[in-house]
Amino acid sequence: MTTFAKGLEGIIAAETNMSWIDGTNGVLEYVGINIDELARNSTFEETVYLLWNKKLPTRAQLEEFTKELREHYKVADGIKDRIKSIPSTAEPMHVLRSLISELAFYDDNPNANDVESARHKAINILGQAPGIVAMYDRARRGLDPIEPDTSLTFSENFLYMLNGEKPTETMARAFDICMITHADHGLNNSTFAARVVISTLSDVYSALTAAVGSLRGPLHGGANEGVMKMLNEIPSVDDVEDYVMNKLKNKDRIMGFGHRVYKAKDPRAKDLQKLAKQLATDTGNEALYEKSSKIEEIMEREVGSKGIYPNVDFYSATTYHCIGLKLDLFTPMFAMSRLGGWSGHVIEQLGDNRLFRPKAQFIGEHGVPYVAIDDR
Ligand code: COA
Repeated sequence: MTTFAKGLEGIIAAETNMSWIDGTNGVLEYVGINIDELARNSTFEETVYLLWNKKLPTRAQLEEFTKELREHYKVADGIKDRIKSIPSTAEPMHVLRSLISELAFYDDNPNANDVESARHKAINILGQAPGIVAMYDRARRGLDPIEPDTSLTFSENFLYMLNGEKPTETMARAFDICMITHADHGLNNSTFAARVVISTLSDVYSALTAAVGSLRGPLHGGANEGVMKMLNEIPSVDDVEDYVMNKLKNKDRIMGFGHRVYKAKDPRAKDLQKLAKQLATDTGNEALYEKSSKIEEIMEREVGSKGIYPNVDFYSATTYHCIGLKLDLFTPMFAMSRLGGWSGHVIEQLGDNRLFRPKAQFIGEHGVPYVAIDDR
């Protein structure tokens, strides 16, 4: 096959039975279950189990999975020491990427990549990631680390390790819905990066490190921080019209809009919009929500015909802000959730591996003579 597709657009490069997207009608399913149903009824732990095992767990299976995950909440001592030496100016995404890589130092057999070992490594990374983010954020604020509480869910425990107090039920549930809705999304860029790395039979730590690196780009997971910066730049809802129109006139992108796959409103944006609206009211951030919905209204009027609608990042920004998270923690939240999806893809890839090795179309010259350095 010699077809060239820039950005691999439209190319099918892997098989999966984890998530399915209908970009035209704005539908997302995990293992056949609509994302709205999962957002309403599931938990992050159950969703990860579903993605890895391709079926909902029984109560006993969920308990066993949850117990194993909780056993990994505790951050390795070497990583805790390492966090103390990281400059407080470091971006949390760089910290998370680097320390996921360093978790391999504390694994007796980091390169084992049979499917069962990969699953254990994935739990090891998923369990410790919230602690890594929380401990680094506290360290840079000059605060002592908080040890995990294994009686808490993944979401509750993260917010507890970050803030030093247990979250309210509403906040923990809102955060958990964010985790559920960000967990998997077909062969997106970071998932592809994870599958490409593991396809060399490298190791799970390397694959997930690469995925975090990919996610932080502003065209991918980094867009949620871009959305918040934009909302902060707009003084009030009355300024939204001029702001958006100016951006569009200058051919600038409005962060949180558009998607390579969705040409309708991203279903996750719908779930998160409801959450953002409720949390904004509960936390006195109504202005933030009003600015967001005004941006959406103008974008629909101006570029809706091109299929540019809110994506997952648009309302997650307001949601994370209302939960009390700092701007540069938004993308690490995405990463913490997506570790579930990336790991599932790594397990799938290892189960039926073939080395990824596409070709490049050579567009350079041939037969160019070598010129000695003094003659150039
Ligand atoms: N704001 C304004 N216009 C946008 C836009 C946005 N966020 N996203 C796309 N467009 C416009 C482009 O300018 C282009 O217009 P043109 O045909 O008149 O030149 C058209 O829509 C198609 O854009 P294209 O870059 O080909 O789409 P893509 O599939 O490559 O891009 C994204 C997908 C996600 C990279 C793109 O929509 C984007 O940059 N969005 C902002 C970043 C973001 O939110 N990323 C998170 C994704 S989950």
